[in-house]
Parts: sequence; structure tokens; C-alpha cells
Amino acid sequence: MGMDEPYRKIDLSLENLVIAKRIYHYKKINSTQQLAISLAKSNIDHEHGTVIVADEQMEGIGRAKKKWASPIGGLWMSLIIKQKIEIAKINLISVISAISVCEAIYKISHVKSYIKWPNDIIINEKKIAGILIDTNINNSKNDYIIIGIGININIDISKINLSVESNNILPIRVTSITNESKVKNINRFTLMKQLLRKLDFYLSLIQNDKYHNKIIEIYKKLSNLLGKRIVIYHEGLKKNSGIVKDIENGGGLILEREDKVEEIIYSGEITIREQNNK
Ligand code: BTN
Repeated sequence: MGMDEPYRKIDLSLENLVIAKRIYHYKKINSTQQLAISLAKSNIDHEHGTVIVADEQMEGIGRAKKKWASPIGGLWMSLIIKQKIEIAKINLISVISAISVCEAIYKISHVKSYIKWPNDIIINEKKIAGILIDTNINNSKNDYIIIGIGININIDISKINLSVESNNILPIRVTSITNESKVKNINRFTLMKQLLRKLDFYLSLIQNDKYHNKIIEIYKKLSNLLGKRIVIYHEGLKKNSGIVKDIENGGGLILEREDKVEEIIYSGEITIREQNNK
């Protein structure tokens, strides 16, 4: 099963949730995401909701195959989802993951964080958490979605900036919660517990179409892009620019381009322009 390294099972008393029935805790691992993918592929039905968490990742993976620095002091976890989700709703997984991270951080620390579309979590315009979604959807028993979440809680930022920023196509300043706030005593398992509660709640909501607008409303409130002038890049190349008008129901960004035509953007990397930038 790919779980040959030492781990312990932890119990966070989350028995009333659908997910998180099994939580595997590693001291050191290459990547929780990699292990979650191999477990999900092993096609064991009961792997739905399994969580892998590690103190430290040696080869943490970020979006666009970037490295993700994962020293001790952060929350590095991956959640295996095997519930049936229509392809049209996959974007919502990224939406509810970002909401869950912001809400969980707020609930346990009262620190406010925001979502930089699609799912970077930021405080003071600097990134404190990232989300990586891996999917395999072909309408078979092997379908899976892995939600990988990395939160820089209490980390010496010189360690993360060195390895993460130099690998970014578009550098965004990286920081940690303790570095940006007065709150110094966040326990990562308390945070994880709250995060799993939120994820469980929102995963049940997305099953029912009538809650989608509500979810997008919450996402918009936490988003820092509405009304901003932005530039969108794809694999390092400038693709578009304009003003963010709205976020549509599937989680796409409604951009009013410079030529005043509206376009819906589903992926890309964003930089925010200062209002007076040409
Ligand atoms: C991003 O680039 O913003 C996404 C970062 C995702 C990092 C998390 S940490 C837990 C999980 N395991 C990994 O190797 N990556 C994700």
C-alpha cells in the first residue's frame, strides 16, 4: 500500500464526521500527496476520507510541479475523497477547500486570511497556505480526488522563502501565520481538526445543487480579487489582463478584458496590479 515508512494512527475524536475515520501521521515523508495518490489508486473502497499528515515533507509538491517547502512547524496534509462528484463540480472542491482553510484558521486563532483566486490563502498579500488538488475521474471505481493542503503555521520564513520563492514562476511573497499575526500558539492538530470539520461540512453541501450559490457567496466574501485590476499568466506567459468583475457559479473568474469583452477564466496565475499601474 505504499505505507512502509513508520507512521502512527491518530485519533482526533472526529467520529461524527464522514471523513477522517483514518488519520495516518508520519514524522517524515516525501510527500503526503504522493502517498495519498498511491493509496487512492489501490482502489480500496474504504479509503474514502483517509487523511495523511506529516511533520515534515522532504519533497513537498506545489502546484505546477513546483517544490513546496515543508519544514517542521506547518500543517502538511492530504485527504482522499472517493465520493462521487460530477466533473462539472470539481472546481467546487478547490473552492470549498480554500473556504475551509480560511474558516478553520479564523475559528481557532481569530486571524483573518483571504483567498487569492483560485486557492492561495494570504495574509497581508503574502501567501500562508496553498492547496493542491489531484484528480482521476473517469467514472470508474478508481476515481479519486486528493485535496492537499499546506499551511505555514509557525515557520522561520527564511526557510520557506529560499526554496519556494526561487521555484515560483511568479514570485508571491511567502510567510507564515505566526509571522503575520500576534497569535503564536496555534496547535497544528487543533487546526487540522477544525479544518477536517469544515471540509466534511462543505463536502456534504456540494452534493446538493441548491447550496452552490451559497458556497460561492462565501468564497466571494473571502476573495481579495473582486474589482481589482489583474494580469493572468499561463505557464509563465502573460495571457490576459483586465478587471475582475465577479466569480461565477462554477468558481471561474469573470474578467473584463482591456477591450471590454468579458471572459471566464478557470485557471492561471494572477498578479494584482496597483490601480495606477499602466
Ligand atoms: C501550492 O502550490 O500552492 C499548493 C501547495 C500544496 C502543498 C501541500 S502540503 C500537503 C500536500 N503534500 C504535498 O506534497 N503537497 C501538498
